[in-house]
Amino acid sequence: MHGTPSFLTRLGIQLPIIQAPMAGVSTPELAAAVSNAGGLGSLGIGPSPVEQARQMIEQTRALTSRPFNVNLFCHAPAQPDAAREAAWLQHLAPLFAEAGMAPPSTIKAGYKSFIEDEQAFDMLLELRPAVVSFHFGLPAAERIDALRQAGICLLATATNLREARQVEQAGIDAIVAQGIEAGGHRGMFDPMAADEQLSTSVLVRLLVRHTNLPVIAAGGIMDGAGIRGALELGAAAAQLGTAFILCPESSANAAYRQALQSERAGTTRLSASLSGRPARGMLNRLISHGAAAGSPPPADYPIAYDAAKQLNAAASQRGNHEFAAQWAGQGAPLARELPAAELMQRLVAEWRGA
Ligand SMILES: Cc1cc2nc3c(=O)[nH]c(=O)nc-3n(C[C@H](O)[C@H](O)[C@H](O)COP(=O)(O)O)c2cc1C
Repeated sequence: MHGTPSFLTRLGIQLPIIQAPMAGVSTPELAAAVSNAGGLGSLGIGPSPVEQARQMIEQTRALTSRPFNVNLFCHAPAQPDAAREAAWLQHLAPLFAEAGMAPPSTIKAGYKSFIEDEQAFDMLLELRPAVVSFHFGLPAAERIDALRQAGICLLATATNLREARQVEQAGIDAIVAQGIEAGGHRGMFDPMAADEQLSTSVLVRLLVRHTNLPVIAAGGIMDGAGIRGALELGAAAAQLGTAFILCPESSANAAYRQALQSERAGTTRLSASLSGRPARGMLNRLISHGAAAGSPPPADYPIAYDAAKQLNAAASQRGNHEFAAQWAGQGAPLARELPAAELMQRLVAEWRGA
């Protein structure tokens, strides 16, 4: 499957390198730089209001004529539960006190799932990006059909073989095999289901041998050797997230960049304390507070995110970044601070070089 030219042709790209969609971190500038370098840049519009998402797509189009990927969240719509939310806010009360604010009286989901977002669907059909990818699940069959008929190449994340089979049966074009090493939210369809926590390499082999779709390896790939290893295992391409966070084109703030270049990068945790769904980030006080004995379960995704975002907004004004969502994968200490075009050159040289 080395390089899998037919799949790259289907995507309209030259290099088997995908810059992962990273909501809040990827930008039109980053996606365009990666696409212009021959890979596939991605926008993460999961939490964006439709008009902002449209602007991001249009801005990317102004910066590149090459294909790029637009990523959406297909989580089960949030389940409000006043008692659960109150218990979670009460648990966070000491952290809010530290940030100099009272806990909010209520919290709510700040964005919809694509599953229930008619406007986002209409916008995609109108703008027709070359590639669309789904995280946390799949949209309804009619939507998948309509997007495919519009000529859009579709990708979806799977964290195990069961999810991958659902992706294959749904008529998606390729599977993003997301291993436990990965930074950011774990794409598992049901966050309450038992999780085998498969590594990227085991998951890639499982999906290469037991499905018929091209497999995109994601999780812990930080350099050309990692890309070569993924292709060697039968992946058709590698998707890198954490490796691109330090690019000047990303929207990661100074505190995030600083943490990623410090010893903190060596300690990541998978935690639902920030958003309500498991996600891997650099260990901070909000993550350890949520892991403390006797901690109640966080509010449902993305209701808990509302609390974390308010907490972080107040604390960071005081120079305290201990409650921020600083997603990073296990390979974080290998991240390099380079403009995206240079990082792409470096990745290609390393991958082909040895
Ligand atoms: C900061 C950050 C944000 C992310 N946001 C998204 C997202 O919006 N949609 C998505 O499908 N995956 C998201 N991911 C997960 C990536 O798609 C990918 O699985 C992961 O970055 C691969 O692992 P790596 O970070 O070790 O390269 C995010 C990852 C990071 C690091």
